[in-house]
Amino acid sequence: MTLAPLLKAVSTEGFAADLHHALAQSQRSISPKYFYDEQGSALFEQICELPEYYPTRTELALLRKHAAELANLIGPQAQLIEYGAGALSKVRLLLAQLERPQAFVPIDISGPHLLQACAALQADYPSLNIQPVVGDFSRAVALPAPAPAGGQRVGFFPGSSIGNFTPPEAQAFLAMTAEQLRGGGLLIGVDLIKDPDLLHAAYNDSQGVTARFNLNLLERARCELGAQFAADGFRHSAFYNAPLQRIEMHLLSMRRQVLRLQGLDYVFEAGETLHTENSYKYSVAGFQALAERAGFRAGPVWTDAHNWFSLHWLQAPAS
Ligand code: AVJ
Repeated sequence: MTLAPLLKAVSTEGFAADLHHALAQSQRSISPKYFYDEQGSALFEQICELPEYYPTRTELALLRKHAAELANLIGPQAQLIEYGAGALSKVRLLLAQLERPQAFVPIDISGPHLLQACAALQADYPSLNIQPVVGDFSRAVALPAPAPAGGQRVGFFPGSSIGNFTPPEAQAFLAMTAEQLRGGGLLIGVDLIKDPDLLHAAYNDSQGVTARFNLNLLERARCELGAQFAADGFRHSAFYNAPLQRIEMHLLSMRRQVLRLQGLDYVFEAGETLHTENSYKYSVAGFQALAERAGFRAGPVWTDAHNWFSLHWLQAPAS
């Protein structure tokens, strides 16, 4: 395993600057990428196991069921790029079927977590060329050059992480990947519009793990930046915004209070929130149209029997 293109992880200074910027707005909002410190990444893995959180197990079942067909689309000697790699459990289902992959390039913002996951993967695939990139996949990170005589470059973006972007941002991100993946394709998981009660349960689990995940953003501000606020001052809030077809997560202020960050005081009125995440839901046709506007050609789509989750093959432009 080579650590060659080890890019700078999100720095503490970046978090401080973005948090000040967020807190100075009238509707406060911050990027969900700040959920994923070590504690947050561990909590996210717990979320994936929750009975109410259907996306992970539904997507895993789709990957398992269609692995042979997917491996066929990816082809031999592919350079496989995973955006927002996390624990690397999903890619194993592909790797088990791939013919002589040339390289696996997982990109993730949570450095130690990524390197640990890579070490575990390497133990199971001793001859796999793993080239982790620690960085923010939503920016153009430098990718290792594909081997001259290799197969195609294929992107893997599971979990419906695309849902964190607004549709215009998603289109811009897909346009960037369409360029990066020229001559190849993108395999992407997209969560579907469904009964709002199911969505609500998935983001308000009975064990309170999603609440801890959300509140961890403030814990992180306390530990890393010395932010001061009352421990019981904020609560998890998650709801489906039907007109915008998205789950919104917020940290809801329970009363009028002051959050102090690096000598600056920010007043929260009771009921004011810090908006921490959007998770957009799509229809199959709606997502395909978005992907085509970004320069991909929509290919095969797989969905589960409930139509809860979709897996799309998107053909990148010719190289
Ligand atoms: C990793 C962005 C796909 O939106 O469902 C899970 C994150 N937030 N529970 C999602 C998340 C709350 C997740 N994504």
